[in-house]
Amino acid sequence: MARVISGTAISGEIRAEIAAEVEELRQAGITPGLAVVLVGSDEASAVYVRMKARACERAGMLSRTIHLPADVGEDELFGVIDGLNADPAIHGILVQLPLPGHLPYKAVLERVTPEKDVDGFHPLNAGRAFVGDPRGFIPATPAGIMEMLRREDIPTRGKHVVIVGRSLIVSKPLASLLMAPGPDATVTLTHKHTVDLASHTRMADILIVAVGKPGLITPEMVKPGAVVFDVGTTRVADPSIPEGYRIVGDVDYEGVSQLVEAITPVPGGVGPMTITMLLVNTVIAARRKLEESRV
Ligand code: GUN
Repeated sequence: MARVISGTAISGEIRAEIAAEVEELRQAGITPGLAVVLVGSDEASAVYVRMKARACERAGMLSRTIHLPADVGEDELFGVIDGLNADPAIHGILVQLPLPGHLPYKAVLERVTPEKDVDGFHPLNAGRAFVGDPRGFIPATPAGIMEMLRREDIPTRGKHVVIVGRSLIVSKPLASLLMAPGPDATVTLTHKHTVDLASHTRMADILIVAVGKPGLITPEMVKPGAVVFDVGTTRVADPSIPEGYRIVGDVDYEGVSQLVEAITPVPGGVGPMTITMLLVNTVIAARRKLEESRV
């Protein structure tokens, strides 16, 4: 049976470290502040936004949520972002995705000033991550997976990492982080047009799946002894529990956990790390502000 990599436990460690750092920053006169902009009333997004706000407050940080109607105009949204860009109490800004279809999401992400872009989605920060420039922000999910690898002492040098999915939020930044000097992994990136996906996933020493398709990865697709990270979070109806739904990953957990060395569960795996690394990025943004004010 596989070792379970608990994102909840690792998050707890990091959140205690963050709380200590927040206290230090507060003593120096700066309370890290995160603003989350939520457009519309998508229930899953609203849940995530509430979790982000609560995590902020628990860490002693300032949290502000700006909730806009689903039919908000582009100019009004830009105005809200401009206000947050100029607000000295706010160090990190996050526009919750997905946005309603009428909004030009690339232009919206570019409106967030890069020094407050704690999501790391602005092209300047994405480019910095790609070239290995530490002035940027690493998106929270890839940063969380890198932190889990480090804290679980899972070696990556020379290992074959296979990533399923090619998103801007997870897979692309993760590929560039893993192949960089330091982690030194060999990375294969696969996606929905990859021919014979299983022939790639079976080669993986470390398999990372970020697609959003429950049951995509079956035991036959995994090398015995591999380490598996399941980034999928899909709601499936389950009338037997009060919420009426469960969150499931992309990996057949029951089957795959019989043959691998270690695996992240869903929920309680990569998910909690994502929120934690967002707090880390906000603390980094606040610390940079403090250092700027001292020179
Ligand atoms: N929606 C799902 N994941 C994310 C994320 O990491 N950041 C933002 N802004 N929206 C998301």
